[in-house]
Amino acid sequence: MRSLIDIKELSLKELDSLIDTALDIIENPQKYSEKCKGKKLATLFFEPSTRTRLSFEAAMYELGGNVLGFSEASSSSSAKGESVADTAKMISCYADIIAMRHPKEGAPLVASMNATIPVVNAGDGGHNHPTQTLADLLTIKRKKGRFNNLTIGLCGDLKFGRTVHSLIAAMSRYEGVKFVLISPEELRIPSYVKTDVLDKCGIEYVETKDLCGAMPELDILYMTRIQKERFFNEEDYLRLKDSYILDPQKLENAKKDLCIMHPLPRVNEISVKVDSDPRACYFEQALNGKYMRMALILMLLGIK
Ligand code: CP
Repeated sequence: MRSLIDIKELSLKELDSLIDTALDIIENPQKYSEKCKGKKLATLFFEPSTRTRLSFEAAMYELGGNVLGFSEASSSSSAKGESVADTAKMISCYADIIAMRHPKEGAPLVASMNATIPVVNAGDGGHNHPTQTLADLLTIKRKKGRFNNLTIGLCGDLKFGRTVHSLIAAMSRYEGVKFVLISPEELRIPSYVKTDVLDKCGIEYVETKDLCGAMPELDILYMTRIQKERFFNEEDYLRLKDSYILDPQKLENAKKDLCIMHPLPRVNEISVKVDSDPRACYFEQALNGKYMRMALILMLLGIK
C-alpha cells in the first residue's frame, strides 16, 4: 500500500508513466470510464479548495468510482477534537483512498502512517502540494515538450507557497534547469529548499525582486498568490499583496513561447487582460490536474 505525501517519492520513471497515462486518458476517456467501479475516494479537506477537491472528485467519477468526504473542518469530528490519526483510521473503514488537505504541515503524513489505505497529500500548510506539481508537469510536457533545459521564473510568495516548493523539488531532477526566484525580501524561498533541494542537486538559481528584468530569459513564468491565510499580521499582508501584477505591458519583453502558469486561485497577480494571451496556460493547467489525479488514483489503487 502506497501513499503520496511528497513529489520526490515518485521516481522520474513513475512521473513519465503517470504523464503517459494522463495523455492516454485525454485521448481515450471511454477506456477508463469503469476502471474504478466499486471504489470510493474520501476527500478530507480541512482547508478551502476549489480545484484540488473538485478535480479529485471529478477524477474519481470519470473513473467510474464514488466519492465521500467533507470540505471544511467544522463539519467533521475534528471540530470536537478528533485527531488526524483517528480520522485516518476511521476513513480507512469507509473508503479505498484518501485525498487530504490540512493547514498543518505534516498532517497528511500522520494520516498516511495511521490509515490502511493510500493517502494523497492535497496540500499541507506552507509545505508541499504534490498533485499540483503533477498538474504543472503535464502542462510543461504538453506546452514545451520537455523538462530539460528550461529557465523557470517563480514569482510571488516563495516562502509559504507549497506549490513552488513541490515544483522546485520535481524540476530539480532534470538536466539544465535554472530557476529565477522572484519575490519581495520577506517572501524569499526558505533556506531548507535551497540547501536540501537546489544546492544538493547542483541547480543554478538566482534570487531577485525584479520581475521585468528577469522576463526576457524565462521559458516558464510561474506566478503565485500572496496568501493572506499564511500571514500572522494583516499589515504585512496589505503591504505585500500587490507586489507583482502581471499585465500585457510586462510581457512585452517576454519570449514568444513563454508558458505563463499559476496554480490558482489568483487574486490580483495576473491581470484578466493576460487571459487572452496565447501564452496563458493557467486554466489548462487546472484541467490537466484532473487527468493527472485520475492517473495517480489508478496507480495508487494498483489498477492497470
Ligand atoms: N491550486 C489549488 O490548490 O487550488 P485550490 O486551492 O482551489 O484547490
